[in-house]
Amino acid sequence: MDTKVAIIYFSATGNTEMIAFEYARNFQETGANVDLIRMEEFKEPFPYNYYDFFGFGFPIWGCRAPIWFRNKILQFPEAKIDQKAFIFGTSAGWYSDAAIPIIKILKEKKYNVVRASFYKMPSNIIISSAQEKFQKRFYQKLYNNATLKVESEVREIIAENKNAEIQSMLTYKTESMDIDNLPKSGCILSFLTNYMNTMKKLPGHKFSIKRTKINDNCIRCQLCYKSCPVNAIKWIGNKPLITEDCILCMRCINNCPVNAIETFGIRKGSTYKAPDYSPPILRNEVQ
Ligand SMILES: Cc1cc2nc3c(=O)[nH]c(=O)nc-3n(C[C@H](O)[C@H](O)[C@H](O)COP(=O)(O)O)c2cc1C
Ligand code: SF4
Ligand code: SF4
Repeated sequence: MDTKVAIIYFSATGNTEMIAFEYARNFQETGANVDLIRMEEFKEPFPYNYYDFFGFGFPIWGCRAPIWFRNKILQFPEAKIDQKAFIFGTSAGWYSDAAIPIIKILKEKKYNVVRASFYKMPSNIIISSAQEKFQKRFYQKLYNNATLKVESEVREIIAENKNAEIQSMLTYKTESMDIDNLPKSGCILSFLTNYMNTMKKLPGHKFSIKRTKINDNCIRCQLCYKSCPVNAIKWIGNKPLITEDCILCMRCINNCPVNAIETFGIRKGSTYKAPDYSPPILRNEVQ
């Protein structure tokens, strides 16, 4: 019987999507049936029982999975016997113990969590033109390394070889964790964990949104409005307006065709998105 795999992921600027596609391609080469599902398009009713493997992919934000992504997994039902899960994250290199809260949720739902793997990718946040030039020299190397790593990860997932990282996380690290009161992640960017992820509860969030502005270059293409994963952009007076629902995922900022969205004044022509990435169209055009 064919193995059935659901790869559920979120990607604001294409890095995680690139890795998700690689997982899908490698599983398909083994004869598996694979469905790729964007978390922002995930809907009930969902055929949970149809799948043997669930893959969850996300960008690392403040050394954690985005909270809204984590909350969606919290809604999953308990696994049926033998359903397996794997996790993958992409980051600019700092991920610390990002997988633990997700592993804890999956473990409590009785999934057999086989692997958690992290991929170093270019950063899509705080890009200055100097950093952009510096990063560009290494992009190809990062993508090549990631591609090779996915190939070996899929082999290990199918063989159900747990990695050392997950062994220790499954045993002691998840036991005492209260996922609603996450401990500091130990990452030098850990201050971002709460700042970016819990958002509205903190004054810093309002401060950030106020500094995220749409300038006069805007050509009213509506791409930002149609592709925001959390519908945080309103269309008012024939113009986009970023509201407090924004989770600062960087999708609209990095994908605006005319660089009209600035945050803290650092986005003047310096943006990042993975090669060939186009943001998904999630909403209809405003009439
Ligand atoms: C809000 C936010 C927080 C981030 N925090 C981290 C971090 O803690 N560590 C890190 O290495 N990269 C961090 N990054 C960079 C992204 O994790 C990285 O570029 C990722 O590959 C983007 O994936 P995507 O293109 O699929 O959205 C952050 C990016 C954003 C937008
Ligand atoms: S993506 Fe850019 S140009 Fe298009 S509506 Fe949004 S801000 Fe304006
Ligand atoms: S408005 Fe905020 S949440 Fe929506 S795409 Fe832009 S940065 Fe992401």
